[in-house]
Amino acid sequence: MPSSARTRNGLATAVRVVLVAVVALALSLAAGFPAQAATGPSITKKHFGTLPDGKKVDVYTLRNTNGMRVNILTYGGILQSIEVPDSRGKFANVTLGFDNLPDYVNKSLYFGAIAGRYANRIAKGRFTLGGKTYQLATNDGPNHLHGGDKGFDKRVWQAQPFKRNDSVGLELAYTSPNGEEHYPGTLRTKVVYTLTHDNRIRMDYSATTGRPTIVNLTNHAYFNLRGEGNGLILGHRLQINASRYTPIDKTLIPTGKVAQLSGTPLDFRRPTAIGERVNSKDQQIVRSGGYDHNYVLDRRGHGLDLAARVVEPDSGRVLEVFTDQPGLQFYSGNFLDGTLRGTGGHLYPKRSGFTLESQHFPDSPNHKNFPSTVLRPGDVYRTTTIYAFSAK
Ligand code: BGC
Repeated sequence: MPSSARTRNGLATAVRVVLVAVVALALSLAAGFPAQAATGPSITKKHFGTLPDGKKVDVYTLRNTNGMRVNILTYGGILQSIEVPDSRGKFANVTLGFDNLPDYVNKSLYFGAIAGRYANRIAKGRFTLGGKTYQLATNDGPNHLHGGDKGFDKRVWQAQPFKRNDSVGLELAYTSPNGEEHYPGTLRTKVVYTLTHDNRIRMDYSATTGRPTIVNLTNHAYFNLRGEGNGLILGHRLQINASRYTPIDKTLIPTGKVAQLSGTPLDFRRPTAIGERVNSKDQQIVRSGGYDHNYVLDRRGHGLDLAARVVEPDSGRVLEVFTDQPGLQFYSGNFLDGTLRGTGGHLYPKRSGFTLESQHFPDSPNHKNFPSTVLRPGDVYRTTTIYAFSAK
C-alpha cells in the first residue's frame, strides 16, 4: 500500500476512534450517566432567579463520587432535584419540583422545602403558652399549616457550602424575628444538608429562641422513585415502622387519640403497595382523600431509627428514611391535581408523588398527651433526618 494511502487509512482510523469515543460519551450522557463520576465530591453555585422584592436566589449543586447529584435552593432551603441511579445504574431525578423560581413562589405545594416554624397543622391557628394565647394565620381552611402565609419555605436562607473527605454539604441559616407570622421569640435556625459518599442526604436541624416558643421543622420533599413526572406512585411498596397513629377529624386535625394501626388500611408495618388500599372506604382515608396521617413511630431509643422504607419495583430504587423524631407524616399526594408542570416538563397528576415528613405530631401545642414542641431560651432544638437511596 502506498504510504499516502496508509496515512489516509491511519487518519480515517483516528477519526473513527474519536467518533466512537464521542458517540460513547453522548450515549452515556443520554443514559443519564454522569460525565465525571470518577472525580471527588463537589459543590457549585449558580444564580437561580430573583424574587419580586429584588432578593437573589442561588442554586447549589452537590455531587458525590457515585455521580449522585442534589440541587438545593437558597429559597426555602428547597431540595430542587435529587438524581439517583436505578438498579441498572440509570439516573433519574426522583423529587418533584420546578425548573424556575416564579413557579416555586406562586404555585408550589411545599415541594422539597423546609417547613416551619411549625410544620403540619395547628387547630384554628391558636395555641397558649405561658398563659398567653397566640393567633397564627389560618392558611388551610380553619387551620394553620406549615408556618403560615410566609413560612420558612418562602424565606431566603444564608448559605455556606462545605467539603469534607467523603461528603459535601450546605449550611443554611435563617433568623426569624420575634413575632414573625405571629410566633413568639426570635428563632435562630440552621439546617445543614450533607450529601454523603453512600448516597444519603442528611439533614441536621437546630434552633434557639429568645423567648419561649414552639417549633417543629421538617423537609417536605415529594418523591417518585420512578422519576418525577414519570407516572403515579401507587406501585411503590411502603413500609412504616409504626404500630400507632394519630387519627384526624374532618379538617385533618388530630382528635387527640393515639390509635392502633392493626387491622386498618393505614397499617404499613408490612411492605404494601401504596395503591392497594388508598381508595379504601375507611373513614380516616376518606376524610383526607388518601393517606395524610401522622404515624407514631415505634422508637427504640433517642437516636436515629429506620422510620420508613420504600421500594419501587420497576426501577429497583429504594428510599429509606431515618429519623430521631417521634412522628412521620405520610401524605400520598392527594392534592396534586394535574395542573402543575414539573422540572422535566410533565404535569403532576394526583398521586404522582408522596411525602414522608419526619416531625413532632400535628397540633401538639393543643394536646398535653403529645410530646412537647416547646422550646425555651437556653435550650437547643436539635433533630436529624436522613434520606438514604439505594437500588436492588
Ligand atoms: C399535609 C397535606 C398538605 C400538604 C401540602 C402535607 O404535609 O399533610 O395535608 O396538603 O402538606 O402540600
